[in-house]
Amino acid sequence: MSSSPYIFITGGAGYIGSHFIEHWARTIREHGLPHRVVVLDNLSNGHFQIIESLDAEFQRQYVEAIIFEKVDLCEFEAVEALFQKYKPELVVHFAGKISVAESVEKPEFYYKNNVDGSENLLLAMRETDCRKIVFSSTAAVYGNYEGDAPIEEGTVLAPLNPYGISKLRIEQSIQLASEEWGLQGIIFRYFNAAGASVTGQIGEWHEPETHLIPLVIESAMNPSGELKVFGRDYPTRDGTCVRDYIHVTDLAQAHILGVSRLNKNEVNGVEVYNLGTEQGTTVLEVIEAVKMVTKKSIQVKEFPRRPGDAAMLVASSFHAKQVLGWEPVHSKIETILRTAEVWHHRLQDLKGKRPGL
Ligand code: UFG
Repeated sequence: MSSSPYIFITGGAGYIGSHFIEHWARTIREHGLPHRVVVLDNLSNGHFQIIESLDAEFQRQYVEAIIFEKVDLCEFEAVEALFQKYKPELVVHFAGKISVAESVEKPEFYYKNNVDGSENLLLAMRETDCRKIVFSSTAAVYGNYEGDAPIEEGTVLAPLNPYGISKLRIEQSIQLASEEWGLQGIIFRYFNAAGASVTGQIGEWHEPETHLIPLVIESAMNPSGELKVFGRDYPTRDGTCVRDYIHVTDLAQAHILGVSRLNKNEVNGVEVYNLGTEQGTTVLEVIEAVKMVTKKSIQVKEFPRRPGDAAMLVASSFHAKQVLGWEPVHSKIETILRTAEVWHHRLQDLKGKRPGL
């Protein structure tokens, strides 16, 4: 087995990847994880400013700088060269396109980018005998779950949109790699990642933004803004979709526990964990909560359902709690919204939209 000091973080300049790196630096002493961090990112979703914001904190906590490699996972030779150069021991694979709506418009792009990119990654891992991976999957693999209880990992997988299908295919490739050449994997199915670091230095930054919480905050901050509510006729308590919002730092903590479990060689094959809070919040409830937190009004306009949306996605995270000892601690909706609001202002600064700052 390799004794490389390097760990690869694909998509480390993106939303969840960057929070993982920050959390890694903060908890390094507690967990004693010995690796040097190499970020692989093509900056199509991620932002180099995020890496810069992280780097100062990272060096303070961790001494070593983050190593950044701009690379597209679809370019196999470039990916292979990085594996040959660093021979990482473990990969945390966040990189991927993540918009349900965009995937419905451009399915082929999602299959190429997410699936082909991940296949390249797995091939390069195999070639260099890198046998450990933590993979970011999604609740979208479950599709339209019709039960009342929170969704468990053994639930039938029936994704409704190309984004969910692309993630399911990658999960299957990881399973296959485990059977064929002994890859050890942890797959995390995130429910709705939300909120931002308590430092206010990093957070959600998508161009264009399609996710509910940043858009509701944006509408609250912008008096001429208007929030679109997609669908009032779902079979839910107020007719809008129910989602399980999980703070991004809680997701990051699950990854720390996952990496630690792989490092201790406690994973035999592939383990799959849902990450959510077991609490559902409707679109209208999110809007009301943002009004309370920001003390601002929000103009709302109703639109038809957005294609590809499931009515309700709420996680059972019993398995992650039981095996990993994971417990979400930042995921009260008020905490999510307060951290997202602080980040919203910082993002406006980064985008140069707030004059005088
Ligand atoms: N919504 C609106 N108006 C908006 C944006 C969203 O009404 O302007 C609604 C959506 O229709 C949906 C809910 O808010 O009902 C949440 O939508 P998001 O776009 O914030 O998130 P999704 O649930 O579509 O997708 C997110 C992640 C996926 C993940 C999924 C799992 O982006 O990666 O959560 O639940 F798969």
